[in-house]
Amino acid sequence: MSVLRFAIAESNCLRLLEEQVNITVIGAGYVGLITAAGLAETGHRVICVDDDLGKIQLLNAGGMPFYEPGLENLVKRSRAAKRLEFIARIEDALAQGEVIFICVGTPPLENGEADLSSVELVARRISACARGYHLVIEKSTVPVQTGRRLQKHFSIYGDNSQAHYDIASNPEFLREGSGVEDFFHPDRIVVGVDSEKAAALLEEVYKPVLEQNFLCPIHENCGKRPHVPFVVTDINSAELIKHASNSFLSMKISFINMIADLCEAVGADAGKVAEAIGMDSRIGGSFLRPGIGFGGSCFPKDLQAFVRVGQSAGCDFTLLREVERINQRRIDLFVAKVRNELWVVRGKRIGVWGLAFKPRTDDVRSAPALAIIRRLAAEGAQVRAYDPHAMEKAKAQIPEIEYCADAYAAAEGADAVLALTEWDEFLRLDLKKVRQIMARPLIFDGRNMFSCAAMAEHGFEYVDIGSASEARKQVLGR
Ligand SMILES: NC(=O)c1ccc[n+]([C@@H]2O[C@H](COP(=O)([O-])OP(=O)(O)OC[C@H]3O[C@@H](n4cnc5c(N)ncnc54)[C@H](O)[C@@H]3O)[C@@H](O)[C@H]2O)c1
Repeated sequence: MSVLRFAIAESNCLRLLEEQVNITVIGAGYVGLITAAGLAETGHRVICVDDDLGKIQLLNAGGMPFYEPGLENLVKRSRAAKRLEFIARIEDALAQGEVIFICVGTPPLENGEADLSSVELVARRISACARGYHLVIEKSTVPVQTGRRLQKHFSIYGDNSQAHYDIASNPEFLREGSGVEDFFHPDRIVVGVDSEKAAALLEEVYKPVLEQNFLCPIHENCGKRPHVPFVVTDINSAELIKHASNSFLSMKISFINMIADLCEAVGADAGKVAEAIGMDSRIGGSFLRPGIGFGGSCFPKDLQAFVRVGQSAGCDFTLLREVERINQRRIDLFVAKVRNELWVVRGKRIGVWGLAFKPRTDDVRSAPALAIIRRLAAEGAQVRAYDPHAMEKAKAQIPEIEYCADAYAAAEGADAVLALTEWDEFLRLDLKKVRQIMARPLIFDGRNMFSCAAMAEHGFEYVDIGSASEARKQVLGR
């Protein structure tokens, strides 16, 4: 750790840093790249490693491997200030980085367990070349007791005469689409450690963020915010906190979707029900919007992995199995609604607004939109889709449908439009124009992003999630 004790002033950022830490971040994906760029912005010296050479070449050429608001500027600035560099070989980074964040993917295996092979491969590479002291931090989402496995790994494979390790868990809670903001203004930072040295080093790494002591690169006039809670616990608990948090949020979504189905069946308004439930401060309003369910690279896989963890520990995790089942049924129910209104799907032209699993990202991993498109295309629909940022990634998965230049082109001549990701730009569309260019003005709103009244005013047939069926019939004029 080199001691700086002066103010760094360069290219519109100013921070007061006491300690600059040399950090290696392994994995330049959504988590790794945001972490690397964020830590560099707060003044540390960061080397980000990825074994995808194409990604490293792209980053070194000034390109971005994915879309995340605010990230490109951050990367550019830290590279120019020589606080951030990208390389392909772990061996070349370790000589400098005493703190190592592992941010590689942990996708699901066929049985739902997390595939830890990338984490293990990184550990093998570290143990093959590390010298001196290293704090190895799991930031990837991993099942409880992975830290213990890593400790054992290093005690077996590490050259203990040359290298010493501490292991820590530092689960990541950022949300794609607001990942940069979440890095600088997190709700909390959780670290699981088993030594005071590891806790102190992590506190040093996060000091500017914990103290909110940096010139905010995203908000003008950000002002002084309160210190961020620093939760220090044991490694098992930190690992478990991440899985439990994602499972709880998934449970909220499936809960409100279950209620939305009841609202449709009995003639109640799920939007109002959700709004009023959320006003209870013990419950909170977020993650209570009825829709086509959760997707993305985290919730579905973390939920599955957590169910497996619970099962192998002999605990009853049926609750979370139901959360998963309710979510999977969202796609069936939505497709059934489309089928019901269109009568015959084969040959119908269906416009799709939104492909990403949520707005402000290009990530289509486990996106509900793709699952719905696959089903309707398999039934013979002509699908024409548009998304502001996710079309390239969607094309790689579903090349057989047509991709359009904008939302109007997707709606043109359509027998129905499905709104599947709640991008702001869809809320700014000229609905009068949309109404005119569609063959049948029928909108299925899988995210409840439009208002029933506005749709009725523009003469649309409008099907949302969880509306009182009587109210919907009125809008449909039946
Ligand atoms: N994406 C999110 O919103 C999010 C949020 C919180 C936690 N997480 C967790 O963080 C982890 C990473 O997620 P992500 O979305 O960033 O994944 P990602 O797929 O976008 O990125 C992973 C990166 O790791 C690289 N990689 C894989 N094996 C490697 C190796 N042996 N050496 C060097 N690089 C290697 C890949 O090339 C890829 O660039 C996962 O465990 C995920 O569950 C993700």
